[in-house]
Amino acid sequence: MRLDLTIVENNSSQTQTNNSDSDEEDIQWTDDETTTAVTAPEFPEFKIRVQEAINVLGGCVFPKLNWSAPRDANWIALNSSLQCQSLCDIFLLFKSSDFITHDLTQPFLHCSDDSPDPTINYELVLRKWSELIPGAEFRCFVKENKVIAISQRDYTQHYQHIAKQEDSISSAILEFFRDHIQYQFPDEDFVLDVYRDSSGRVWLIDFNPFGEVTGSLLFTWEELTSGKNLTDGPAFRYTTSEVTVQPSPCLSYRIPRDFLDLTTGEDAYKLIDFLKLKKGQQEEEESDEEGEGP
Ligand SMILES: Nc1ncnc2c1ncn2[C@@H]1O[C@H](COP(=O)(O)OP(=O)(O)OP(=O)(O)O)[C@@H](O)[C@H]1O
Ligand SMILES: [Mg+2]
Repeated sequence: MRLDLTIVENNSSQTQTNNSDSDEEDIQWTDDETTTAVTAPEFPEFKIRVQEAINVLGGCVFPKLNWSAPRDANWIALNSSLQCQSLCDIFLLFKSSDFITHDLTQPFLHCSDDSPDPTINYELVLRKWSELIPGAEFRCFVKENKVIAISQRDYTQHYQHIAKQEDSISSAILEFFRDHIQYQFPDEDFVLDVYRDSSGRVWLIDFNPFGEVTGSLLFTWEELTSGKNLTDGPAFRYTTSEVTVQPSPCLSYRIPRDFLDLTTGEDAYKLIDFLKLKKGQQEEEESDEEGEGP
């Protein structure tokens, strides 16, 4: 289900700030006129539309923007999952996600043609929530309308059933591709994510661009673009038990960047700003104490 986000832009009420001319020392932390009031914008009509859509989809949804899901932000949600039941749940994930920020600020970053960037109509995409087993997800790389490579999607884990059912998984995916996707997608090079359920049925999850912006998983983009190592039909790769199980690629998104920079001393300017802030606070406290007197 797609909801046009222009309604959000039209309705976005401005942050209300009460600009009082009074001196800093006059500020009192009460609800009177001198308090600086900041209210979060509200979108009542949009909220109702989203809630209706969520209800139609059974009460639990998986949210995306035009291209990306906030996969890097599940750690911030109360249920540590991307499952949303309200617009508030969606806002929390979107505001915490670098992937969503990328869609909003630099969606054409890796595009190599000279044409001007098209105008984008942002859309909130809601999918009915479905409890997917990560070991049943696969990514197919399609070049000139042929599947050249298939990779286990969650390549950080070893799933025993994949090795055992390699042939049936591969043929089910290729049959699905032939019957439903081949020559029907507007481009001849693209990447397709699929899910093979326990009864062997294949479902389409998503389409992605054929290029660096899409994760190459157990292949490299050099292999995929040159065709090196991929000459005899589609190559099927999965993580074998011999390979050390790797950490999830989204782990690095879990700690806010500012905290990380401060604790590791990575960003010297941030550290300087932080120390200045601390010094200012200390000086303020000291002058308050002097002012108080006996
Ligand atoms: N309807 C759904 N219900 C529950 N989980 C889902 C649903 N759709 C997708 N997922 C999970 O979320 C993951 C990401 O979904 P999707 O591929 O649509 O996002 P994406 O942002 O395009 O990811 P990528 O950047 O890897 O292409 C999937 O691998 C799947 O595990
Ligand atoms: Mg995708």
